[in-house]
Amino acid sequence: MLSPRLIDELNLQIKYEMFSAQLYLSMAAWCADQQLDGFVIWFKAQAEEEKFHAMRFFEFIDDMGGRVKMTGFEDPQGDFESLTEVFEYSLEHEKFVSKRIYHLMNIAQEEKEHATISFLNWFVDEQREEEKSFSGVLQQVKRFGGEGLYHLDKELSTRVFTPPVIA
Ligand SMILES: [Fe+2]
Repeated sequence: MLSPRLIDELNLQIKYEMFSAQLYLSMAAWCADQQLDGFVIWFKAQAEEEKFHAMRFFEFIDDMGGRVKMTGFEDPQGDFESLTEVFEYSLEHEKFVSKRIYHLMNIAQEEKEHATISFLNWFVDEQREEEKSFSGVLQQVKRFGGEGLYHLDKELSTRVFTPPVIA
């Protein structure tokens, strides 16, 4: 059985992952307003990925005999100055989520909770990928303005979220 502290912290992570989905949908809406259709697809896929993350925490808590609790959050930011700001903001958000995962990992290690450590390892790798992905697009957005942005928008429109098979 997980400690009450760990259950609370894992539940809090469901909230952060769901908030990430809300934030990325908010960014998709901003991109839609700017007629950046490829970016809309990209952010919608990212939001799906975040919901998948949230459900992994939901299922893990339940599998471990803990009580899942859903809690709310404030509204995500909806207005941005530029596409660069959108990606700077989201990269900072992903860095914050990485810190949250490390925080959970620190507690699990402190409590020698090996099942949770094993579960969280996937998220440590996942966050490295997320930061790489966001900073990659940020670099591209900064590099290509005007006509180049049109090509980037086209390239990003091919993104599809397929839930990974986890052993
Ligand atoms: Fe996530």
